[in-house]
Amino acid sequence: MKNIIITGGAGFIGSHVVRLFVNKYPDYKIINLDKLTYAGNLANLKDIEDKPNYKFVKMDICDFDGVLTLMQDEKVDGIIHLAAESHVDRSIKDPFTFAQTNVMGTLSLLQAAKAYWESLPEKYEGKRFYHISTDEVYGALQMTHPEGIEPPFTTKASSGKHHLAYGEKFFTEDLKYQPHSPYSAAKASSDHFVRAFHDTFGMPTIVTNCSNNYGPYQFPEKLIPLFINNIRHRKPLPVYGKGENVRDWLYVVDHARAIDTIFHEGKIAETYNIGGFNEWKNIDIIRVLINTVDRLLGRPEGADMDLITYVTDRAGHDLRYAIDSSKLQRELGWEPSLQFEEGIEKTVRWYLDNQEWMDNVTSGDYMKYYNDMYANR
Ligand code: NAD
Ligand code: TYD
Repeated sequence: MKNIIITGGAGFIGSHVVRLFVNKYPDYKIINLDKLTYAGNLANLKDIEDKPNYKFVKMDICDFDGVLTLMQDEKVDGIIHLAAESHVDRSIKDPFTFAQTNVMGTLSLLQAAKAYWESLPEKYEGKRFYHISTDEVYGALQMTHPEGIEPPFTTKASSGKHHLAYGEKFFTEDLKYQPHSPYSAAKASSDHFVRAFHDTFGMPTIVTNCSNNYGPYQFPEKLIPLFINNIRHRKPLPVYGKGENVRDWLYVVDHARAIDTIFHEGKIAETYNIGGFNEWKNIDIIRVLINTVDRLLGRPEGADMDLITYVTDRAGHDLRYAIDSSKLQRELGWEPSLQFEEGIEKTVRWYLDNQEWMDNVTSGDYMKYYNDMYANR
């Protein structure tokens, strides 16, 4: 495959995927298709924007005619689809936008790919539609142990490896979907449409479901960048509920590496879960963030613990996410490259060293700059 559209490439994970593909595959043409919503920021791609194998197109995935024309003009043979509304709290306030982009946008993209690929003599031969989804579609796991042992405890995943975990069950690919938030409901719906296009039309599709990502360029409405910035500026840290909810964290570059492996070697019509067996209670991760920021800024370690402020819980707050990625590790040999301690240190350093990026995002300046630049294109 040579001509690839990556949707949502100006966002957090998308920018890491674009960077990896542009640098690793100089003979591919990488087209970043992004609407540049509040979450899209071309400053995330400054280091590769002038590369000859990279092109940015400002477009809404819901624009069927625009996407079809782009696919025809660029002879696109692969789509890696990341564009989405991605923040649970926003989905609680405005579910319509989530249905529009995540469901209708994905459907529109599928229809455009179908129209173009079915018009070719070779049809779906050598083509691929890869849809990036989330573990949140599986719902929430309990924090239980058959013998009543208090979590965290050592448990065995289906890979046979032992891990520290907060419950004996994990999300596996065969689990029934049970989304709870408007965000996860919309992502679940889009996953169903992608699989339906394989089953009905024979489109070569792949779906992956990944756990929470962290790393550079994440929009500071999500827990980790928001809290790093607040600690730096000694602002309160709004912890939802008791801070007891568990999330499974993966360094974003490891997600991008998994996407590369699966795009090239994954089996058509398969689902792969992506995660690093790395469960943390929110409050524990928050303490690590405070200690790390304090240490790197030369403050007494733990000096900012008093910023922790317990606030009203998120509505429908899922208790625990935990991915079993044994299938991906076993079948395609992918493993996370970073230990969490290394990843979090790198991440905190990056946000502290890139205060200008953070200031442009929090002030909203980045939107004006790029929206003006692309207004008439
Ligand atoms: P993000 O919010 O940082 O970026 C989303 C990108 O999509 C932005 O660049 C935005 O401009 C673009 N976009 C939004 N609506 C669009 C539209 N209608 N047309 C074209 N572009 C549009 O999101 P992210 O955190 O990078 O997540 C990327 C994907 O990965 C999403 O599909 C998300 O569901 C999935 N995912 C995210 C995580 C996570 O922890 N962040 C975990 C698992 C899966
Ligand atoms: P978030 O980064 O929004 O990701 P997701 O909701 O997709 O898991 O939140 C991660 C966890 O942190 C989640 O349990 C909600 C919690 N959280 C807070 O306690 N306070 C906050 O201000 C935010 C943004 C999240």
